[in-house]
Amino acid sequence: MYNDNPTLTGLTKTIDEGKQGEVFFKEKTKPHQQAQSGQPEVGKHFYIESYGCQMNFSDSEIVGSILAGAGFSATRNMETADLILINTCSIREKAEANVRQRLRVFDKIKKQRPGTLIGVLGCMAERLKSKFLEEERLVDLVVGPDAYRDLPKLVAGAEEGDKGVNVFLSREETYADISPLRLGSNGVSAFISIMRGCDNMCSFCVVPYTRGRERSRDCFSIVAEAADLYNSGFREVTLLGQNVDSYKWENPETGEKTNFAKLLEMVANVHPDLRIRFSTSHPKDITDEVLHTMAAHENICNYIHLPIQSGNSRVLKLMNRTYDREWYMERVRSIYRIIPDCAISSDIITGFCTETEEEHQDTLSMIEWANYSMSYMFVYSERPGTLAQRKYEDDIPLEIKKRRLTEIVRLQNQVSFKQNQKDIGKTFKVLIEGDSKKSDQDFKGRNSQNKMIVFPKIKGYKPGDYVQVKVYGATSATLKGEMV
Ligand code: 5AD
Ligand code: SF4
Repeated sequence: MYNDNPTLTGLTKTIDEGKQGEVFFKEKTKPHQQAQSGQPEVGKHFYIESYGCQMNFSDSEIVGSILAGAGFSATRNMETADLILINTCSIREKAEANVRQRLRVFDKIKKQRPGTLIGVLGCMAERLKSKFLEEERLVDLVVGPDAYRDLPKLVAGAEEGDKGVNVFLSREETYADISPLRLGSNGVSAFISIMRGCDNMCSFCVVPYTRGRERSRDCFSIVAEAADLYNSGFREVTLLGQNVDSYKWENPETGEKTNFAKLLEMVANVHPDLRIRFSTSHPKDITDEVLHTMAAHENICNYIHLPIQSGNSRVLKLMNRTYDREWYMERVRSIYRIIPDCAISSDIITGFCTETEEEHQDTLSMIEWANYSMSYMFVYSERPGTLAQRKYEDDIPLEIKKRRLTEIVRLQNQVSFKQNQKDIGKTFKVLIEGDSKKSDQDFKGRNSQNKMIVFPKIKGYKPGDYVQVKVYGATSATLKGEMV
């Protein structure tokens, strides 16, 4: 799941490799620029752009909070910033190419204003480490995802002319005590990071190398953050982790253990009007206990992002996903049995090493069988240092990868369209998020299934309100409705 209008983003982009990159890298043209509105622009300012997954967006809010503690305030204007930061993604080659492009833009600013500091944060910083400083001579700071507390010190050093690198990966860091600066937020929905890192070694994935070992955050700090958000007017939280179903936290004083199902329940009990979402679930780890907890709490949304990656068991084995097609199907059956109106979405990689046409057909048939509400769909991009890069040849020609991706996207669009058509005539509880993209006469909001619904405004209602909306129209990406 991705933070801004994922249904629309996931399904309407065109499908060549570059554009597909944008599905994950969706903020390329409109970067996540965070600034505290209404704040006078005094003292030192930082400007930050975030790319990649929701975790990066959430991390940028932690960075914002750490910098605020060091006397910086946020600005939307990179031209006047003292410190320009880019929070980067390494998941596909295209993601890294986009970052380099942005660095060219920042370079120009630095040439005009030589005192400006430029910092690279996140996964690409971690992957390339000090090599970054050799490759990108105008970069002053390289800081990995577990080293953000060190930023004030590194920035102070850089102000004195010392280039700063900290890419230490921690086994403990969860930033549990840091209250994120909710800057680019709509005041309705917020992310809460519940764990960091990943211990799954999916053979295609660079994340275990860039984000380190999996560790879970103290559940009480999560609940406190959710309660704070509710008290500040937020009505939806998304619990974030690379693999939320393996959340586990042990109370050092009592020894009591909290798993993801228990955590969900604790957060759901903060307030019945606080909606809970979560991402990402791993098919090998999602338990019936989690599904029953979802079913028991109206405010836990009926939506699960359950990436399959491939519909074929041989390919899944090569991907080291540790489940097969049958296992995945059994999990989907359980979801629809325990939560009949649940929506399921997916991530799909096409053209993984040695994938045959028949195996590609298995992915297509899974899209229909699982009836995904939407998917993020990618061509395989070989990443340096991953298991797949070391063990297998990236042998599917780009032309074939693209053709398979076209077929996958086309089918997913049809499945989404059919599913959305079935929503016509139904009435949903919708949380108003703000104005629709196209018109300030319309509101947009989501139903529990995470489908975006656009509907005309009625006086007296505002973002953060729950309303009942009856659907009268649907595309593959959006529902249209009216308040009832
Ligand atoms: N190539 C293409 N897609 C990838 N993903 C992860 N690594 C790669 C890669 N090397 C996709 C997976 C994952 C999503 C976040 O990005 O589908 O679930
Ligand atoms: Fe990457 Fe797999 Fe971990 Fe997801 S679960 S971050 S795909 S290694």
